[in-house]
Amino acid sequence: MGLFLVVFLAYLFIVKTTTYNQFVRKGTTVATNSSQLGTYKASRAVDENFNQHIINCSHTSANCNIKEAWLRINLRKVYSIKSVKFWYRTDRRDGKNTIRLPGYSILVSNESWPNSSCYRDPVSPNLPSINENECLATTQYIWIYQSHKSSEDCAPMLEICEVQVYGCDVGFYGENCSKACGLCKSGTCDIMTGQCDELGCALPGFQASECIGSL
Ligand SMILES: *[C@@H]1O[C@H](CO)[C@@H](O)[C@H](O)[C@H]1NC(C)=O
Ligand SMILES: *[C@@H]1O[C@H](CO)[C@@H](O)[C@H](O)[C@H]1NC(C)=O
Ligand SMILES: *[C@@H]1O[C@H](CO)[C@@H](O)[C@H](O)[C@H]1NC(C)=O
Ligand SMILES: *[C@@H]1O[C@H](CO)[C@@H](O)[C@H](O)[C@H]1NC(C)=O
Ligand SMILES: *[C@@H]1O[C@H](CO)[C@@H](O)[C@H](O)[C@H]1NC(C)=O
Repeated sequence: MGLFLVVFLAYLFIVKTTTYNQFVRKGTTVATNSSQLGTYKASRAVDENFNQHIINCSHTSANCNIKEAWLRINLRKVYSIKSVKFWYRTDRRDGKNTIRLPGYSILVSNESWPNSSCYRDPVSPNLPSINENECLATTQYIWIYQSHKSSEDCAPMLEICEVQVYGCDVGFYGENCSKACGLCKSGTCDIMTGQCDELGCALPGFQASECIGSL
């Protein structure tokens, strides 16, 4: 009985994680930092190396003049995004691996400066070192952004080892991105339900919400 339950939960887990596409590709996706400590460059967050020792991670500067730290991911194309997952360092000797992470947010834009926020951490204590946050947006650029500084530091810092971004090509939704959006005016739809946004349908006479088929 217990074994069946384990197999069933493992099945659910696999189905859940294969539902959307992952868009970060080594050599294609471009990562940029707000500042850099030593050789801990931004590109380490998009190199498909998930090792969480700081030697394999990006690290923004510890300079006290700094007021914000960010890591910008350029997907090089606009996608419909469902979630953003990132791996943080786990090598600190004092065990306080995510002490610099509480209060971070995730920002999105089609330009190289942020347009809006899709996720904000409520300054959670004891964040895990792997976080996946829902981020519903149609976007080319994604920022992991931090303006909070830990009680031990004089500047906000980010130490991100790897980032993955899940979603669908624009115009698709649902499990495995297998369904095409209806004739929405915005050209895209809700990535889970297929509903068009407040702009509604591209043409009159189409059924409200999903804009599929004419009345
Ligand atoms: C990272 O930040 C440093 C400034 O600290 C800058 O010189 C460098 O160009 C940035 N690199 C990237 C890839 O964003
Ligand atoms: C850095 O990543 C590589 C590749 O996964 C791994 O072999 C190496 O042990 C990592 N370095 C440290 C210090 O963990
Ligand atoms: C990016 O552009 C698409 C249209 O191509 C638009 O639907 C979307 O709202 C834009 N995203 C942002 C974050 O401005
Ligand atoms: C974000 O982008 C959308 C779509 O391009 C635009 O309508 C909106 O004004 C922008 N918002 C900000 C805060 O720049
Ligand atoms: C989605 O893909 C998974 C893995 O390939 C498959 O098992 C599942 O049946 C697919 N679901 C749909 C609705 O196509």
